[in-house]
Amino acid sequence: MSYNLLKGKRGIIFGALNDMSIAWKVAERCAEEGASMVLSNTEMALRMGELDGLAKKINAPIIAADATNYDELENVFVKAQELLGGKIDFVLHSIGMSPNVRKRRTYDDLDYNWLNKTLGISAISFHKMLQAAKKVDAIAEYGSVVALTYVASHRTFFGYNDMADAKSLLESIARSFGYIYGREKNVRINTVSQSPTATTAGKGIKDIDNMMDFADKMSPLGNATADDCADYCVTLFSDLTRKVTMQTLFHDGGFSNMGMSLRAMNQYSKDLDAYKDEQGKVIYG
Ligand SMILES: NC(=O)c1ccc[n+]([C@@H]2O[C@H](COP(=O)([O-])OP(=O)(O)OC[C@H]3O[C@@H](n4cnc5c(N)ncnc54)[C@H](O)[C@@H]3O)[C@@H](O)[C@H]2O)c1
Repeated sequence: MSYNLLKGKRGIIFGALNDMSIAWKVAERCAEEGASMVLSNTEMALRMGELDGLAKKINAPIIAADATNYDELENVFVKAQELLGGKIDFVLHSIGMSPNVRKRRTYDDLDYNWLNKTLGISAISFHKMLQAAKKVDAIAEYGSVVALTYVASHRTFFGYNDMADAKSLLESIARSFGYIYGREKNVRINTVSQSPTATTAGKGIKDIDNMMDFADKMSPLGNATADDCADYCVTLFSDLTRKVTMQTLFHDGGFSNMGMSLRAMNQYSKDLDAYKDEQGKVIYG
């Protein structure tokens, strides 16, 4: 159902890769709510060809950019204003990647060049995006910027690895930049802490299926899907949340405030004494 919450608004969506991507769902919902948008992703992601389908469906031009490259980001903000005919009302940062996670390096055996890449792509890109937008004065008064994060920024989750550090930094950037951009231009900056979701990036996390099942059993409302996340982002881009800024907003069915649920306890008690070590060997006791 559409409420016309974004009628006449202009947005930039970074990070739609395929129809599982959270950014893809957000772009579709924003279009339903009346927004016009520009889509952006890396040249490599564009070569995979799936983004064209979304671009056609919502009538959105695509501008390629590597989010670690400041000049390319600035170009997106300049061109997007030309293409959409005015200042930008909302921006979604839906970008994350860790070579250490992909190559199964554990947190006590990190490759530091890869750690730099993780932080560069998944967190510092957000600072570059905000700095580029502010320098070319691309975002309208009371514009709204959202980046996606995960609860592993606050609490330790097995397998999330150096992405936890990237998400902590990402949330800190939202606060630090949120203060400056809010004070000077009334632009709000928030992060949405989303449930584990079966996307291309999500599937890279070790034992994501188990993590999703655990989170689902722990959350009174169950896991939030990518479609649920898109609905929430629409509210954050709308005029109904004009005084919300510098927050990490949990969108996780209640998971982040749970200790132990009945469903999780029942599941756990079935195999209370046995667990597997990191090599998969069953250990008792
Ligand atoms: N899937 C989950 O369980 C989950 C949970 C919480 C938060 N998130 C976050 O949601 C965001 C979107 O991820 P997703 O789950 O939709 O997966 P996804 O794989 O669909 O999206 C990740 C995107 O990052 C883009 N990207 C990677 N390197 C880039 C670069 N250098 N420049 C520009 N773009 C680049 C990819 O091309 C891709 O489009 C990420 O920040 C992720 O950490 C995901």
